[in-house]
Order: sequence, then C-alpha cells, then structure tokens
Amino acid sequence: MASPKILAFAGSLRRDSFNKKLARVAADAARAAGGDVTLIDLKDLPMPIYDGDLEAAEGIPPNARKLKDLMKAHQGLLISTPEYNSSIPGVLKNAIDWASRQEKGEPPLACFDGKIAALLSASPGALGGLRSLLTVRAILSNIRVLVIPEQLALSKADAAFDAEGKLVDAKQKATVEKIAARLVTVVTKLSSPA
Ligand code: FNR
Repeated sequence: MASPKILAFAGSLRRDSFNKKLARVAADAARAAGGDVTLIDLKDLPMPIYDGDLEAAEGIPPNARKLKDLMKAHQGLLISTPEYNSSIPGVLKNAIDWASRQEKGEPPLACFDGKIAALLSASPGALGGLRSLLTVRAILSNIRVLVIPEQLALSKADAAFDAEGKLVDAKQKATVEKIAARLVTVVTKLSSPA
C-alpha cells in the first residue's frame, strides 16, 4: 500500500512553542519510519471560538473546514500538546469542537471516525504536560479515534531541544522514534486489505 498519511500539529500557537518543536521531531521520525507526513501549524488556521449561533448563520468557518479536509485526507494524527491548568489548551479543544461538527452529506465525525492517533506533550514543568494527555486521549477516544498506548510527556522542555530544534537526550529521541514508528505501523496494518 502507499505510505500511510499522517497529519501532525501542536496544540499551541506560540512561535517558539516546545510542542511545535516536539511535533516537528515526531513528524520527522514518522517520515523516517515510512509515513507520508503533513506538518501544519494551527496558527495558520485561525478560527473563532465555537458558537452555535455563528454555525447556524454561516456554517463552519473556512479554516475549520480546511482543517476538516486535511484530517479527512490523512489516516493518522500526531498531536503534541501543552497542558494548561491541568487540562487541554482551548485552541486545541476549539479546533476539535469545530472539526467534530457534521455538515450536509457527511457521516457523523467524518474526520475522526477510524483515525489513529499518537499523542505527545511538552512542558517546562516536571510532569511534562501528562495530565493534558489523559484528557486529549479521552476526548479523541470518545469521537471514535483509536489512540495508540505509546505516548511521551516531555518534562523540562525548556532545556530539551538544541538550537536546531533537535532533542538533546538520546533516550527521549528514541522514545519519540518508537512512538512515531508504532503509529506508522498501526496505520499501515489497519489500512491494509484483510
Ligand atoms: C501553563 N503551563 C502549564 N504547564 C504545566 O505543566 N501544567 C499546567 O497546568 C500549566 N498551566 C498553564 C496555563 C496557562 C494558561 C499557560 C499559558 C501555561 C505552562 C506551559 O507548559 C508552558 O507555557 C509551555 O511552554 C506551553 O507550551 P508551548 O507553547 O511551549 O508548546
């Protein structure tokens, strides 16, 4: 089969985001494992906070539709997210909320159902954003995404990357490579003919 298509992004808008760096490292690792990876930045897809009145009047905002189309064109998701106040950042939840909305002619959860995801988090703190991973895992599982068990919560993220954005610690690098390779393997196997 063709290379499994994986969409990678971070749950942060910040230019120097540690999660953007981690998403890039993981995207490179998924490519090295045979994936066809598209790395996007949610900052390029600004969208309003979900508002049912806006949706009723104007439909889904153009950038939310772009995100949905991108997700539909990929079989796997690679997400690296910060933890805000022990939970998921609003920007990531808002993107998921818009993307989850059904449009005419679409089955429910068209861009989530049957997708396979791998999760990462990064934080300067000691827990590495681990609590956000629990929440993102629960949300995605509830909208029919299969989230692989392997994950990484990268602690002390402010000291984890070199000037080129590569992970300094070989063990952490190996963990990211293992997660990315597992995602590629699972997507490949589940997309193969029986
Ligand atoms: C944080 N931060 C944070 N960190 C953490 O480990 N646990 C937490 O609960 C929080 N809460 C929190 C709330 C808010 C509103 C902000 C802005 C930040 C710190 C956070 O991990 C840090 O800012 C990271 O650098 C954010 O990720 P990016 O943008 O570097 O990817």
